[in-house]
Amino acid sequence: MKGTRWRRVPWVSLSCLSLCLLPHVVTGHTTPLPVTSASSASTVSSGSPLKTETSGASLLPYGAGAGDLEFVRRAVDFASPLFRPAAGFPLGSSLRDALYFTDNGQIIFPESDYQIFSYPNPLPTGFTGWDPVALVAPFWDDADFSTGQGTIFYQEYETLYGEHSLPVLQAESWIRKITNNGGFKARWTLKVTWVNAHAYPAQWTLGSNTYQAILSTDGSRSYALFLYQSGGMQWDVAQRSGNLVLMGFSSGDGYFENSPLMSQPVWEKYRPDRFLNSSSGLRGLQFYRLHREERPNYRLKCLQWLKSQPRWPSWGWNQASCPCSWQQGRWDLRFQPVSIGLWGLSSRQLCSFTSWRGGVCCSYGPWGEFS
Ligand SMILES: *[C@@H]1O[C@H](CO)[C@@H](O)[C@H](O)[C@H]1NC(C)=O
Repeated sequence: MKGTRWRRVPWVSLSCLSLCLLPHVVTGHTTPLPVTSASSASTVSSGSPLKTETSGASLLPYGAGAGDLEFVRRAVDFASPLFRPAAGFPLGSSLRDALYFTDNGQIIFPESDYQIFSYPNPLPTGFTGWDPVALVAPFWDDADFSTGQGTIFYQEYETLYGEHSLPVLQAESWIRKITNNGGFKARWTLKVTWVNAHAYPAQWTLGSNTYQAILSTDGSRSYALFLYQSGGMQWDVAQRSGNLVLMGFSSGDGYFENSPLMSQPVWEKYRPDRFLNSSSGLRGLQFYRLHREERPNYRLKCLQWLKSQPRWPSWGWNQASCPCSWQQGRWDLRFQPVSIGLWGLSSRQLCSFTSWRGGVCCSYGPWGEFS
């Protein structure tokens, strides 16, 4: 699936040559770096405000001390387990059921649970709207964690019923400020932090990258925030060749945006921590609206309604209530999909096992919503 190793061979020898001849030429970075050492034991760091230096946005606190989980494989390419937001995640014009992140600076919304890949090569054309893969790219380029350097931390925040969480409040406040809409209330948020990521092949490349992606949705609207650690984006531009880094997103159904850095020279592309958004006044932060249009989220309404119902102790098999979405029902062993006649995608039905004796059947619309 990922058989692209061959292309790297000539490049490896070239970079080795330039490394051997020019051992002192480094990335051109002179500022002391607030980055902790490259070991995976680097738990909490960041959160260290760099506001005195620039108007740069700080990464949200990350690492074990911030309650994050660590996910890294000592392999050249890898993908995280799937996340399944209970109310789905709006992307383009679709409501997505699942997503995962990869070592290569991507968050991907797969078409099915069996299409889980880490795509090492960024699209040479940038996002075009014809891209088949639904993908959010804070820093899509070929990273390499296989030598034991660098790691990835993540945390999922479910705030369906208004639970309190500091990182979510911070993300909400950024979103409210940038969209100029005070009403945004996150219901599900994912924070992924790539820490000291080295470029492939890690044993030959100089510099590492530390950056964070935050995806947040209120069920109808969804946003991505990319935060680049000030001074923490250090890949050696001289060692990049072939496809260059890609930042932005594509919904897989025709809605997309490329980072404004995509039209800049290569040395600026690789330093997104220095990018100043003149309209927001924030440095090192990129912001994307991921939903094409706002739609009511019936799964969320249903979940919230269920929560508001008193818990009847007698609720059980015979009075099974309908799952709030087709996707949830498929994971609920009490229910089975029924295929009597020709159910199109626009009408899907789930019935509990007892339904032939007069149990419960539930039907779902095209978004998987209970109807
Ligand atoms: C720059 O800021 C504006 C307004 O604050 C925002 O709408 C836009 O998405 C930002 N651009 C990027 C690339 O983050």
